[in-house]
Amino acid sequence: WTSMKDIDRVFCGQKTDAYKYVEEHWKEDTFFGYQYLNGINPMMIRRCSKLPDNFPVTETMVKASLQEQRSLAEEIQNGNMFLVDYKNLDGVTANVINGKQQYLTAPLVLLHKNTDDTLKPIAIQLKQTPGDDNPIFLPTDSEYDWLLAKIFVRAADFAEHELNFHLLRTHLLSEVFAMATLRNFPMVHPLYKLLMPHFRYTLQIDTLARSQLISKHGIINTKAVASLTYSSLCMPEDIAARGLESLPNFYYRDDGLKLWNIIQKYVQGVVENYYCQDADVVKDSELQGWITEVYDHGFNKEPNTGIPQSFTLVTDLVKFLTMVIFTASVQHAAVNNGQFDFAGWMPNAPISLQKPPPTTKGQSTEKTMLETFPDINVTVHGLATVYLLSKQSDDYVPLGKYTDDQFIEKIPLEKIKQLQKELNIFNYETKIRNVELPLPYTYLMPEHVENSVAT
Ligand SMILES: *[C@@H]1O[C@H](CO)[C@@H](O)[C@H](O)[C@H]1NC(C)=O
Ligand SMILES: [Fe+2]
Repeated sequence: WTSMKDIDRVFCGQKTDAYKYVEEHWKEDTFFGYQYLNGINPMMIRRCSKLPDNFPVTETMVKASLQEQRSLAEEIQNGNMFLVDYKNLDGVTANVINGKQQYLTAPLVLLHKNTDDTLKPIAIQLKQTPGDDNPIFLPTDSEYDWLLAKIFVRAADFAEHELNFHLLRTHLLSEVFAMATLRNFPMVHPLYKLLMPHFRYTLQIDTLARSQLISKHGIINTKAVASLTYSSLCMPEDIAARGLESLPNFYYRDDGLKLWNIIQKYVQGVVENYYCQDADVVKDSELQGWITEVYDHGFNKEPNTGIPQSFTLVTDLVKFLTMVIFTASVQHAAVNNGQFDFAGWMPNAPISLQKPPPTTKGQSTEKTMLETFPDINVTVHGLATVYLLSKQSDDYVPLGKYTDDQFIEKIPLEKIKQLQKELNIFNYETKIRNVELPLPYTYLMPEHVENSVAT
């Protein structure tokens, strides 16, 4: 790359409005913060009630960023500080590409919610162990010191997003549920009928991903498995655990929780038609075989995951099935559909970086940044991948549309009608909400959510 103009010229197809927005705003602190809520990875930010010991941010460092003479300690008390910690990536050695060692960091990012309800990064440390070679970068540093720090964070975020939140927690997880369903339920079982439409093409797309995109023993995935708990897969619990219930302008949460409730109501309606009492759940040996396989093979018989090993209550079954359908449809849409919008413009989500992170301040220039970006052919490879993965397929089936007539009984058919009605209304509501937004949040509009992990 000799200038930013070169990067603009690499993609000559039709850019989406969101892509153009990203290209225009990628350097802005408010947009950097916005992406933790409504970008393709809204899964990592949490409220900060105490600074981690390995992130020694001082009052002096952030004084300029915290307007109105408030202190960092006060703002932590007020619930206005947020943290993103990429500790999962610590110790991961990046690949060698085109004969050059690549670099991936495990940053810590401190963010502040301002009085105008924007979220801005106010301190970035690129490596986990504090020290003289690991400065804490600040918005008051030189333009390229601060920008380069943010670029390293964006690259770390892209790796964590693709391997953990996209691949592992939607694709591979849905595959576990699909396999257990195919192996344990006969086709006449009501849960087979309920679930199968949500696994359409999942085995096929994962087979393709294995052969073309992912390595066999990826270390990032191995580490990410440790954080894979049942409660983190249930959106209401995950949002609460991260302390994000009241954060403003958080459309992933607003739309996701609404859809969680709509799906739960539908699942409950169908399940209660077949399981009138808890004893019916206990007695269903095919269902018990299903959850045992999910626990044994999907979660390595790890009790700390909180994944049930059997079902005894109808309500527990409803919750689990809600999570399964939500993961395959809503959650996948949230982390999949915006890939081209947010990662098409490479500087916003570099697929790889080929210079080590800066160890001192005051050394970086535009030239350093351009040399740090991945090679043109690596960039093009990443661009082609996110373009393909974001593309809606020709035979796409939206959430709640059941084309293969699994159910023929009256009650489930009524519940499906009701589901479709509620999704239609919500689709309309998000359309209206989006009119007001500079960057509309479209990924969880029911018409854009696919029934299954298929891309
Ligand atoms: C990609 O670009 C780099 C740097 O320009 C070059 O060294 C390498 O040979 C290229 N690789 C391929 C596969 O064309
Ligand atoms: Fe996907």
